Amino acid sequence: MADNQGNKVAKDYHLDVKPAQEGFYLKGLNHCDWGMKNRLSRIFNPKSGNTVMLAFDHGYIMGSTAGLERLDVTIPPLMDDVDVLMATRGALRSCIPPTTDKALCLRVTYDSSVVKEEMSAGGGFSCDIENAIRMNAACMAVQTFIGAPGESNSLELLSRTVDAGTKYGIPTLGVVAVGKQMARDTRFFLLATRILAETGASFVKTYYCEDFEKVAAACPVPLVIAGGKKIPEDEALTMAYRAISEGAHGVDMGRNIFQSEDPLAMTKAIAKVVHEGYTDKLAYEYFLDLKNSK
Ligand code: 5RP
Repeated sequence: MADNQGNKVAKDYHLDVKPAQEGFYLKGLNHCDWGMKNRLSRIFNPKSGNTVMLAFDHGYIMGSTAGLERLDVTIPPLMDDVDVLMATRGALRSCIPPTTDKALCLRVTYDSSVVKEEMSAGGGFSCDIENAIRMNAACMAVQTFIGAPGESNSLELLSRTVDAGTKYGIPTLGVVAVGKQMARDTRFFLLATRILAETGASFVKTYYCEDFEKVAAACPVPLVIAGGKKIPEDEALTMAYRAISEGAHGVDMGRNIFQSEDPLAMTKAIAKVVHEGYTDKLAYEYFLDLKNSK
């Protein structure tokens, strides 16, 4: 029973201190509810404003991918140095220890496999909102195909995910996929990133491109870049450095990390660029030092 006698009298109301009225640190997201902001703060480091997301969801369309033959062996050693794990629920449940405190970006749509000639039909849901909540997802990712046959279907999936996520305070990551028929140019990325943001994505994943500064400026919510196909480590670090310098708020990188000669050194080097302002040159030296010190 609550005591009604002998309690200390509340008296320190700090009348001289104005209530904190800070805006939220991520662009375009100040209107969000507390729960969604809290999840976003697990994704984007509040100190740097940026994120290192480790993407290992490739199996959902590519099957066993080089470097990801054994998720349970490859991924856990890299987890300490990233902010977010991006994966399917099947990969998480079977291969990732649930004791991790890393934010989860759960892929919630499926698509045609790479075996099909045309892999941009837009797919459907692979996971519903109850499952995302059960998995403790910090955000849900939806692949979209702007300018491809699957455009309308994928935007429908994105809209429905944003609606469900808004209800429960879970952000949605809109992922820009480049259909075979689309040019990977500034015009396309300006179009696609803006459409995803206006459809309601809390943040958008895209590719680095020429005039990236314009793409980032025209997107009203944070952008993160995908790594894309494996390129030499120094080039991948330069791409990450340029993207961050030109307005990206992080990377969502897969093959350039887990297919690296030294995935852990590469993860750490990427984190230096994303969170600590390392230049690409400095980060590459750091990568080589780590790699050669083994
Ligand atoms: C595909 C994805 C993948 O997660 C992502 O592109 C993979 O990362 P990377 O390209 O760096 O291997 O979202 O749409």
